[in-house]
Amino acid sequence: MILVTGGTGTLGRKVVRGLLDAGRDVRVLSRTDKAPYDGVQVVVGDLETGAGVEKAVDGIETIVHCAGSATGDDVKAERLVAAAVPAGVRHIVNISVVGANTVPVVSGLDRKMFGYFERKRAAEVLIERSGIPWTNLRATQFHELTFTAAEQLAKLPVVPAPSGFRIQPVDSGAVAERMVELALAAPQGQVADIAGPRTYTFKEMVKVYLRAAGKRRLTMPIHTPGKAAAAHRAGVNLSPGHGTGRTWEDFVAARLGQ
Ligand SMILES: NC(=O)c1ccc[n+]([C@@H]2O[C@H](COP(=O)([O-])OP(=O)(O)OC[C@H]3O[C@@H](n4cnc5c(N)ncnc54)[C@H](OP(=O)(O)O)[C@@H]3O)[C@@H](O)[C@H]2O)c1
Repeated sequence: MILVTGGTGTLGRKVVRGLLDAGRDVRVLSRTDKAPYDGVQVVVGDLETGAGVEKAVDGIETIVHCAGSATGDDVKAERLVAAAVPAGVRHIVNISVVGANTVPVVSGLDRKMFGYFERKRAAEVLIERSGIPWTNLRATQFHELTFTAAEQLAKLPVVPAPSGFRIQPVDSGAVAERMVELALAAPQGQVADIAGPRTYTFKEMVKVYLRAAGKRRLTMPIHTPGKAAAAHRAGVNLSPGHGTGRTWEDFVAARLGQ
């Protein structure tokens, strides 16, 4: 039995589908009681409070840890590991983000804007030090997240575009396929990043959306202060050479029904 945390989310749902297609028994941990697919066990729990987590890991060999949110992913990893160690789990496959180990979060400002990266790194370390054999995959931003950001920004009369920021969005389906492959293999520690096939400036990324949506907006360059932002301008959130999957253009066209 494989446990997928976050098995109801953008990535986790696709991971669950892939594992079911590979003939595996799947359980998900969710704060709701809704199974993503027929035949999937659901244990209701919350990784931030720890409720239900012991029950979720009971009898589990492999955990694919896809639960995450803008805040608190360090706490979620801590709760997961605390239950998984005594349960005798043999492998944790974790999804993290490109930049977790390279975006410096040193000031309050960095933390306010980019604290997510610091928490993802803390989650990685908790899993690495748990004593449970692990595999960690770092991905760039999923197309779905990028789409939501572009859609929201396009509601503004003028779109702010952080100067010097680039983005390499990736298809969550490609990430899910890789997570399934890793879950079905022996623990590998840190594996090569996964990223999209093309890199865009922030402005280019928004323009792809605007063009496809038939909208016209002015973009306004903005300077983002702090060390974490400077690291982004230096490209530590990118993963050249590890591009795969659908392009951002293709995703946007499909999403807009074109
Ligand atoms: N999105 C990106 O661009 C991106 C890029 C790189 C890495 N990642 C990482 O990939 C993972 C999945 O991202 P996603 O975009 O698929 O997320 P998502 O669509 O927002 O889904 C989040 C999932 O996490 C679960 N979750 C959140 N808080 C929880 C809690 N306290 N206890 C238990 N479950 C909780 C949710 O389950 P319920 O609502 O059912 O409880 C949901 O299934 C995250 O770890 C994220 O950091 C994402």
